[in-house]
Amino acid sequence: MSSILNGQTHDIPPDWADEPLLFLLREHFGLTGAKFGCGVGICGACTIIVDGVATRSCITRAGNVEGLNVRTIEGLAEADILHPVQQAWLDHGVPQCGYCQAGQIMAAVALLEQVRDPSAEDVDAAMDANLCRCGTYPRIRAAVLSAAERV
Ligand code: FES
Repeated sequence: MSSILNGQTHDIPPDWADEPLLFLLREHFGLTGAKFGCGVGICGACTIIVDGVATRSCITRAGNVEGLNVRTIEGLAEADILHPVQQAWLDHGVPQCGYCQAGQIMAAVALLEQVRDPSAEDVDAAMDANLCRCGTYPRIRAAVLSAAERV
């Protein structure tokens, strides 16, 4: 059993198949960007991208991504060059505590891969399901719209 993880093929050990994908990523592969938040797929802190779709890794069975293309925030930058969404996040000083932000960024990347020129309403609708207890929503909106001009 294997999947493509951040561009490289990796085996998924059989004893991990029934575990949440989030735990496989964090505990087996050491990719700790995606966070455990609510654990029931509501808050979005665990958001990653599977075959181009923003996906809650806490409620995704690890075995279900066999053969699929899994991307985490660790795979966004190319060498020292940040992904345009990451750069926009820095430019707009988006994070506060930071806990939700990897999930926010992955949701934004998935949006911009599907909608190249989103309106503010498109951004709000796409990002609505990713919760931020610090209320960084206005900066998230500004950063996504800014990133849309660079991707
Ligand atoms: Fe603190 Fe979003 S920056 S929860």
